Amino acid sequence: MSKKIAIIGGGNLGTAIAEGLLKSKFSVPKDIIITKRNISTLTELGKKGIEVIGDNSDAVLRSEIIILAVKPFQVKDVLEGIKNQLSSNHILVSVVTGVLIAEIEEVISKKLPLFRAMPNTAIAISESMTCLSHTNAAKHDINYVHELFSKLGKVTTIEEKLMNAATVLGACGTAFAMRYIRANIQGGIEIGFDALTASLIAAQTVKGAAELLLQNGTHPEQEIDKVTTPKGCTIVGLNEMEHQGFSSSLIKGISTSYSKIATD
Ligand SMILES: NC(=O)c1ccc[n+]([C@@H]2O[C@H](COP(=O)([O-])OP(=O)(O)OC[C@H]3O[C@@H](n4cnc5c(N)ncnc54)[C@H](OP(=O)(O)O)[C@@H]3O)[C@@H](O)[C@H]2O)c1
Repeated sequence: MSKKIAIIGGGNLGTAIAEGLLKSKFSVPKDIIITKRNISTLTELGKKGIEVIGDNSDAVLRSEIIILAVKPFQVKDVLEGIKNQLSSNHILVSVVTGVLIAEIEEVISKKLPLFRAMPNTAIAISESMTCLSHTNAAKHDINYVHELFSKLGKVTTIEEKLMNAATVLGACGTAFAMRYIRANIQGGIEIGFDALTASLIAAQTVKGAAELLLQNGTHPEQEIDKVTTPKGCTIVGLNEMEHQGFSSSLIKGISTSYSKIATD
């Protein structure tokens, strides 16, 4: 039987999760409650049969899984508002960036299965990469939350101390990949394509390259070897990119983002 899920904070991420759970049939509409203060923006979800309300405590009382999807600065107030309704029978999943499990526990002052999840914007099309960490969770709780996010993309469990790194590689990573694709489009136009055709070729080529790694379990260099003919056009292009600092600039960008998140 599907569990009742309350999504506290029906913004971009909260609504994407609700849509994904419906589309994947992980949940039926009557088993999802979604809250926000101004519920007028959620009429479309309401039409699909999801319960849309403004009362967080009521949503918590009538649910087993609580997904917290408000902005980081709103977390404390929202948790203060629902902590009396939270019990050890609930599973609490926070998708809020940068708020530690220990900080959540301090506000609610009780022990319950508690998860942090770091998805990315591709959750809107059920192609997220979601990193999970948890505390006080039994095997069946872990399996359930893993299964839930598996319906919205791929999932891996990490230690909480790696959550900032997960934010950079998995969430900022979407922007990094977009810039790589954009540069390909710019190059594609320079060598003769119109923008639309260049966009299609660049995006599908990157998607296919990623699928090769995910489906074959190969290392990128193994796939590169398959397309680099000796003295050919691929290797000269690749080497020129490296002379210009391609890999180095990506690694430096990732480590700069990480330094920023770690000091904020
Ligand atoms: N977007 C992403 O891809 C992504 C990825 C990873 C993590 N995150 C994290 O996910 C969280 C949500 O991000 P988002 O992009 O979805 O933000 P968002 O669109 O601003 O959504 C937050 C929602 O919370 C609602 N809210 C605020 N106070 C509330 C309250 N007291 N009770 C109930 N609802 C309340 C807001 O609606 P009202 O003002 O109408 O109440 C708003 O719709 C953030 O902490 C972010 O760091 C986002």
